[in-house]
Amino acid sequence: MDEFHRIMTDIVQLARLAIQGKQKDAQVFIRRLARRYEQLEPELSAHLSSLLRQVQKPMQESSPVLRGAVVESMPVDMDSRLSLARVEHPVHLEYDPSWSLDVRTKLNELVYERSHEEDLRRENLSPARTTLFTGPPGVGKTLAARWIARQLERPLVTLDLSAVMSSFLGRTGNNVRNVIDYAKGVSCVFLLDEFDAIAKRRDDSIEVGELKRLVTVLLQEIDGWPASGLLVAATNHHDLLDPAVWRRFDLVVEFSMPTEMDVKRAVQIYLGNASENKRWIDVLIPVFIGSSYADIERDLKRIRRQSIVLKEPLEKRLKEFIAERVNGLKRSDRARLALSLVDVGFSQREAHDWTGVSRDTIRKHHDTGSRTQWQK
Ligand SMILES: Nc1ncnc2c1ncn2[C@@H]1O[C@H](COP(=O)(O)OP(=O)(O)O)[C@@H](O)[C@H]1O
Ligand SMILES: [Mg+2]
Repeated sequence: MDEFHRIMTDIVQLARLAIQGKQKDAQVFIRRLARRYEQLEPELSAHLSSLLRQVQKPMQESSPVLRGAVVESMPVDMDSRLSLARVEHPVHLEYDPSWSLDVRTKLNELVYERSHEEDLRRENLSPARTTLFTGPPGVGKTLAARWIARQLERPLVTLDLSAVMSSFLGRTGNNVRNVIDYAKGVSCVFLLDEFDAIAKRRDDSIEVGELKRLVTVLLQEIDGWPASGLLVAATNHHDLLDPAVWRRFDLVVEFSMPTEMDVKRAVQIYLGNASENKRWIDVLIPVFIGSSYADIERDLKRIRRQSIVLKEPLEKRLKEFIAERVNGLKRSDRARLALSLVDVGFSQREAHDWTGVSRDTIRKHHDTGSRTQWQK
């Protein structure tokens, strides 16, 4: 067999293994190739060997692009070989989140301080090293940690609580310590996401004493966190935290449910930018008032998916969705919805049929323009 045919056969074999998802076999095959080309094509051989070294490190399938040193030294549980942390680097966001004024100010503060490290050091100060994110679920705490990592162009390392907690009794503390040592070493944004989950879990797989030790280990880290990194702790239950704990963080950022402006922006983001959707934005605001970002994202993405797979106009799915929701709305939001419907071109009768708001009311508000009272 000449060299060319041999390469062809190799490519086909590699493609077969890849398509069949035979990772182990592919590794064995690649190792053989690396050996075979050692003399002839040393560069290719080195490249293949380096690829092999990367996969031999246990890592989670779902981890996005992982690079170099950050991944090389990633700590794993001794027995299960599960990664104890997840690394995202570089962080890629689908869209630019819109933060409320207060949140934006504080997040920017964290980022700007990093770009003035020298100036701060001259005055014997360091940028904020630790921050606590609090707020209800689904309002952007995890997203904010990712956003900061992106702005700082640092890896985001997240302690994998489920891996840590499932580790064998007695090793949890050690595991957490390993992750922390690792995170301190790679100058990253280190996210302790929903770290109250540790404190809350009191079932039998992990004893209370152990839990307490774990929380103590974590809290001790706040004070000693190196200025080369940023520790972000996020919690949905700030009320469970001792005020003494709050005070240990350099900066506390409180996330709240989206305001009307935020709802509008979220609808714009998640509705997609097809221009025919634009007129629905105002209609959807009253429907989503009081929802979290996570709810808005979930509902709108579902509607878009349905419209695609059922090959139905988005408008049809949106109408059905609004019809489902209308009964749960507050009276004022329902009235507002009725008026938005008229504004985007539905008749007063249709607006009434949909929302149950009387045509009199619709007409009155529409004619006098007094709907602005709902648009605040
Ligand atoms: N300010 C925002 N703008 C747009 N989308 C957001 C915003 N905040 C959160 N989301 C979306 O809502 C979902 C939940 O956000 P997440 O950060 O996981 O919430 P939390 O950590 O507070 O529970 C995510 O998919 C995220 O993209
Ligand atoms: Mg979260």
